[in-house]
Amino acid sequence: MAVTHAVTDHLDGDYLRQALEQDVRTGLTSVPKWLPPKWFYDAVGSELFSQITRLEEYYPTRRELAILRERAGDIAARSGADTLVELGSGTSEKTVLLLDALTAAGTLRTYTPVDVDAVTLEAAAERLAARYPRLAVRPVRADFEHHLSLLPGTGRRLVAFLGGTIGNLPPAAREVFLKELRSTLKPGDTLLLGTDLVKDRRRLVAAYDDALGVTAEFNRNVLRVINRELDADFEPGAFEHVALYDEDNDWIEMRLRATRAMRVQVRGLGLSISFEPGEEMRTEISAKFREEGVLDELTKAGFDVLHWYTDPAEDFALTLAAR
Ligand code: SAH
Ligand code: TRP
Repeated sequence: MAVTHAVTDHLDGDYLRQALEQDVRTGLTSVPKWLPPKWFYDAVGSELFSQITRLEEYYPTRRELAILRERAGDIAARSGADTLVELGSGTSEKTVLLLDALTAAGTLRTYTPVDVDAVTLEAAAERLAARYPRLAVRPVRADFEHHLSLLPGTGRRLVAFLGGTIGNLPPAAREVFLKELRSTLKPGDTLLLGTDLVKDRRRLVAAYDDALGVTAEFNRNVLRVINRELDADFEPGAFEHVALYDEDNDWIEMRLRATRAMRVQVRGLGLSISFEPGEEMRTEISAKFREEGVLDELTKAGFDVLHWYTDPAEDFALTLAAR
């Protein structure tokens, strides 16, 4: 019999609606236009992201997995955690390595995956509860930029934030996020932070502009979400995927470029928006880091860095830090 794992939901219909309305209104009436990345992840978006992680060009998932294969035991021992909280957990595929290591260390009791996408969250919770029958799996649907203080605070916690998702926050928001996270942790709690590292720009750009066009579809998915949720009439096919590397900021920037002049109605907001031919709208940044930068940001937020883990090619890093 399938056990349903009740999701604690901090994103009820009203909350999500207001947040989306506010983000879309602000972004589409700004010059230049932009859209915030958390709206990529409905059920379709999460599935497309899952496909991205298996693409030849998208090295971060494989590299992070390689680090975890080598070092999860060490991470588990240093953290001594009985509770794993994972922010932006998605399909929780890599998490299995941490769960195995914490189980082997004999400390693990609870796993709390946290994500905005309910469908993926529930599927992951079911899968992991079946794989670890003695583990309490407590999924929470929440926005890690707003709801950190609502996450369960019991036990000795390891908070994992993998996939380089921290790089999707602009620097100012990243600083706020790290400080808030630090303030919700108790002595003995630890943070495991995944960051993609600066490297050859062709490899970076290819990871966000794959030959099969999966990332392009993922990028355009945000338009489908807005069409459905806010009764808009974007033509996703009329927007081109753009990925470029900004050397000054060390980040990949994803944009959608209007291939012709367009007028888009967002009926749910009473907005009518026009696009010039070639006009570009920013949908995502993905910051790339250097060791000094990561350590500096963590230290400034009040963390004590315990260990820096990287793969042999130094493509990706995991940093373990204590509150
Ligand atoms: N951790 C997984 C997935 C990374 S993709 C991996 O490393 O492969 C980013 C994930 O974060 C998605 O599952 C997305 O739904 C989630 N996410 C994005 N913004 C979020 C937010 N503000 N709050 C909570 N989850 C968020
Ligand atoms: N956290 C992922 C990253 O920055 C998210 C991601 C990968 C992504 N590819 C993308 C987001 C394409 C938007 C578009 O690597």
